[in-house]
Amino acid sequence: MKPSKAKTVFDVQAIRRDFPILGRQVHGKPLVYLDNAATTQKPRAVIDALVHYYEHQNANIHRAIHTLGEEATAAYEETRAKVSQFINASRPESIVFTRSATEALNLIAYAWGRANVKKGDEIVLTQMEHHSNMVPWQRLAQEVGATIKYIGVSDEGTLDLDGLDDIITEKTKLVSVTQVSNAFGTINVLDKIIAAAHRRGALAVVDGAQSVPHMPVDVQAIDCDFLAFSAHKMLGPTGVGVLYARYELLEEMEPFQSGGEMISRVRLEGASWNDVPWKFEAGTPNIADVIAFGAALDYLSALGMDNVRAHEQELTAYALRRLRQLEDIIIYGPQDTSRRGGVASFNYPDIHAHDVGTILDREGVAIRAGHHCAQPLMRRFDMAGTARASFYIYNTLEEVDALIEGVEKARAFFSHASG
Ligand SMILES: Cc1ncc(COP(=O)(O)O)c(C=O)c1O
Repeated sequence: MKPSKAKTVFDVQAIRRDFPILGRQVHGKPLVYLDNAATTQKPRAVIDALVHYYEHQNANIHRAIHTLGEEATAAYEETRAKVSQFINASRPESIVFTRSATEALNLIAYAWGRANVKKGDEIVLTQMEHHSNMVPWQRLAQEVGATIKYIGVSDEGTLDLDGLDDIITEKTKLVSVTQVSNAFGTINVLDKIIAAAHRRGALAVVDGAQSVPHMPVDVQAIDCDFLAFSAHKMLGPTGVGVLYARYELLEEMEPFQSGGEMISRVRLEGASWNDVPWKFEAGTPNIADVIAFGAALDYLSALGMDNVRAHEQELTAYALRRLRQLEDIIIYGPQDTSRRGGVASFNYPDIHAHDVGTILDREGVAIRAGHHCAQPLMRRFDMAGTARASFYIYNTLEEVDALIEGVEKARAFFSHASG
């Protein structure tokens, strides 16, 4: 590939060489991977960390007295410390490893929610949440007899915060909001919402699945009580999620799942719990993938999250500028890239998003088409779904050009087919 014309803050071509998959072809064309909001590709360092673990350290953790077990335990706990530093948690014990962001959110709903949310209480969400930050709360509300209220979404695809004081009231027990919309890319300003929640004595949960991978996130500055995200959306392996919680909350909470590892003592009559955070990590965890996630965090930290954000903002601004030049296209979310992450979500009024995605795939361009696990948001805009291109550190302006060419081809093909 020729040198990038981007004025980027880091050497994108050097980064691309770290990702073996970016060398492959799809349908005879170079792969242009623009489905990063779904999952990102993995650098060699992460793949090597997985192989290294299995070749040199494979052992169960926290219980072995042999060398392999000690090394594996140290490497696993080192990732916890890296995660803590990455989001500026006050201590590593505030970090619980789960299977995914989804499991982290379910953990809160189960372990905190069932103990603290009662009949008549209210939970506040937004209309733009991913199903993972909606369905666990709906189930909790149904079980205990609580009510869910939703912060609405404007035509621009931003949160409508007028009337926030009528939505978050003294009945509110918990407010759970995504920091960045996976469907439109909108960056939500959380200060007002979190301050309103805390004024009413409610807790604030942040879904960081689309923010932590893409911008600096500081849990102490945001002042959230919980934060959930997934390793696979930030260069790490699948099967690892993170729950950050204020340490005191984790201490108060009852366990989520039970079994080995999470206990301190078991008698025939009952059991007592391990310390935080291990109380929430029942059974053998995903050791290899957690360790390899550490390599992903090293990779992103070396680039600098401000630089990651700046690079994505440049790509997004260029993509929006080029998309806006296409006749009839509808683009969702704020046009101002300071208020949106690395996502371009769009539609043609008369072409199904899946058809656009299929034509793009034939050109080697991978995007997502559909409801993006945000059906209520799609319904708000009276549509079944959108075509979504989402960017990451290894994407180039030339790849945005390939996207635009593919979209133009789709447009021409379907106009011809229907004309
Ligand atoms: C905003 C948001 N929240 C939660 C999730 C769930 O993440 P996972 O499927 O890794 O649990 C996603 C995944 O796309 C997401 O985009």
